[in-house]
Amino acid sequence: MKKYSEMSKEELLTLKAELDKEYADIKAQGLALDMSRGKPAADQLDLSMGLMDVLSSDSDLKCETGVDCRNYGVIDGIPEAKRLLGEMSEVDPDHIIIYGNSSLNVMFDSIARSMTHGVMGNTPWCKLDKVKFLCPVPGYDRHFKITEFFGIEMINVPMTPQGPDMDMVEKLVSEDAAIKGIWCVPKYSNPQGYTYSKETVERFARLKPAAPDFRIYWDNAYSIHHLYDDNQDFLVEILEECAKAGNPDIVYKFTSTSKVSFPGSGIAAVAASKANLEDFRSYMQIQTIGHDKLNQLRHVRFFKDLNGLHEHMRKHANIIRPKFELVLDTLEKELGGLGIGEWTKPHGGYFISFDAMEGCAKAIVAKAKEAGVVLTGAGATYPYGKDPKDSNIRIAPSFPTLEDLGKAAEVFVLCVKLTSVEKLLENA
Ligand SMILES: Cc1ncc(COP(=O)(O)O)c(C=O)c1O
Repeated sequence: MKKYSEMSKEELLTLKAELDKEYADIKAQGLALDMSRGKPAADQLDLSMGLMDVLSSDSDLKCETGVDCRNYGVIDGIPEAKRLLGEMSEVDPDHIIIYGNSSLNVMFDSIARSMTHGVMGNTPWCKLDKVKFLCPVPGYDRHFKITEFFGIEMINVPMTPQGPDMDMVEKLVSEDAAIKGIWCVPKYSNPQGYTYSKETVERFARLKPAAPDFRIYWDNAYSIHHLYDDNQDFLVEILEECAKAGNPDIVYKFTSTSKVSFPGSGIAAVAASKANLEDFRSYMQIQTIGHDKLNQLRHVRFFKDLNGLHEHMRKHANIIRPKFELVLDTLEKELGGLGIGEWTKPHGGYFISFDAMEGCAKAIVAKAKEAGVVLTGAGATYPYGKDPKDSNIRIAPSFPTLEDLGKAAEVFVLCVKLTSVEKLLENA
């Protein structure tokens, strides 16, 4: 297979004519496919339908301490839910608060609280001249939207397969007291599917920030979302590492059952030091009289324990794994050796990250759209929607059927080839 960059102008023109024809044929099919968001497919949601049956009008709706879950009370979450989410987050139930239906919502609130009231007695961020956040890139677009919304300056930190560039993180955090946090998706990261190495977690735990109110926003959204039984990533538990390093308050750990049960109708939780949780509670008790305990009860009765969760995630994996493999096989078969793109091969999570030749991502996404395939917007994986190299595209294989995904992947690789040829011809 000849690399595109080694082709002569004539070869590129011949290739372009072939690809133009293929593209016209595909466009004529009038496809309408969506590979843009990491949503579970309907058959994955079907796996959780038992949640609809575990509670009924004749169920005992008391939690294990006898509290009637139909009524107000128990602001922190019922004990059995704390245990379940505690097991999922690998922390003691004393170190967890159960929230409502969305972890993103809790992240937003945490930033909002830090803005208006400050972190554990420190100056509210809104009173400071400048507040900055580190953003490992590529990353999760909705994280970046939150910090953008609050006018927090975002600084890109390159990701590596071991996690963010820790030399850069250590240097920036120790020198600049305006840096108040960092967004992290430490396991099966969004979008690359990378898991932070042991060394990376240890270095995070040992950070020496200039700002006393610096916090690591550890969004462990994909903690149990393995694709394989035998080929699983392992993430060191950070809360304990931080405590060991004498830095117990430096991290907020977020989780939710969004991609375990029903997205938008799951339960979210925060694990952190007791001092941090007190800070969270001081705000939460003004904000609400309590979260949805019936939903907590439903989740505990359905999943029971960590084994139940793992068993359930195996069923998800059986549905989602062939989709990842289909996309990866298509990328390898069609683009392998051409030198026009690189991609990750995750063992879990919801995404594959694709890096096109510089300056091609926007054009690829636009071409795919014209051919009826919606991809995540180019640039979305970067703060302010600006990918400096215009190269990264997030592929979300979970939602379409296998058949649709196969077609979408064909369109995608064709658009990559065509855009790359056009780019090379610009300079040929
Ligand atoms: C990294 C990450 N965090 C959080 C979320 C959203 O979680 P929730 O539904 O709990 O708000 C997602 C959903 O795609 C995600 O990818």
